[in-house]
Amino acid sequence: MEISLKNKINKARKLIDEKYKDSCHKERYLHILGVADMAKRLATLYNVNEEKAYIAGLMHDYYKYEPKEEMQILLTSEEKKEAEECNVLYHSYASARAYKKLIDDDEEVFSAIKNHVFGHLNMTKLEEIILISDYIEENRKYPNCIFCRSLVNRGFFYTAIYESTRHTISFIESKGQKPAIMQVSVLQQYKELMFMELLNKIKEALDKVKASDIIVYDMKEKSPFYDYFVLATVSSLRQAGAVKSYIEELILDTPFKIRSVEGEDTEWVLIDCYDIIISVFTKEERERLEFEKIYMDVPQLKI
Ligand SMILES: [Fe+2]
Ligand SMILES: [Fe+2]
Repeated sequence: MEISLKNKINKARKLIDEKYKDSCHKERYLHILGVADMAKRLATLYNVNEEKAYIAGLMHDYYKYEPKEEMQILLTSEEKKEAEECNVLYHSYASARAYKKLIDDDEEVFSAIKNHVFGHLNMTKLEEIILISDYIEENRKYPNCIFCRSLVNRGFFYTAIYESTRHTISFIESKGQKPAIMQVSVLQQYKELMFMELLNKIKEALDKVKASDIIVYDMKEKSPFYDYFVLATVSSLRQAGAVKSYIEELILDTPFKIRSVEGEDTEWVLIDCYDIIISVFTKEERERLEFEKIYMDVPQLKI
């Protein structure tokens, strides 16, 4: 008979307790429980199986302090090769193998444990959850971990993955070392996702003030100065002012910034957020400026 997920959780918890609870690595024990709790909470928020997230959190650092030789024997030859080039991968690969050997053979959980150090391209939600939970669990007290935790708490999930990866890469570089190729690829992919996330939130803010005819142009191929151009129509100057306040509030305490606001209290307010330019017009002003004609051949994003 198949063992229920609850039993698998108990089994994982027992393994972790036996290994860490009364060991000299008490902090690791608390970290592991913190990751499991955070992963479970995020799984609920993002419609991912909570039990699987909890098990992946529990098992992600099952191997950590063992000698390389002990971890090595668990790995496939391909994994060995990768871990040899980047030693930090020994513990994540060995922990994933331990999960398979001792708990279950669920591929998604296995992959989330295996890739919890750098992540990889096109991650599943569970993989993303384990990656970020490892960085932001409640026992992490580094300023950037606290910052990323607050981003996740405010729904800036992809932004937190980008920010944590960016910070880790800077830290590695500050020590004169080179980041892993995968870290750099993840950073690039999440930069894109981070802007999609922000554009979605900008769209929500525009919807709140009942702005209409919202268009987002992808300017990456068209402008060297910014990547996205958002247009929206408002019915009054007061509404345009409200957009500005919403955007300011939205990006407060995030990595995003407003460089300048032009045309306040006029019929065309332009909010310059570096990579994103937001233009809010009255209907008459928008018709007069004819941006849709000018940008006829620029691709639009579906937000
Ligand atoms: Fe780890
Ligand atoms: Fe960890």
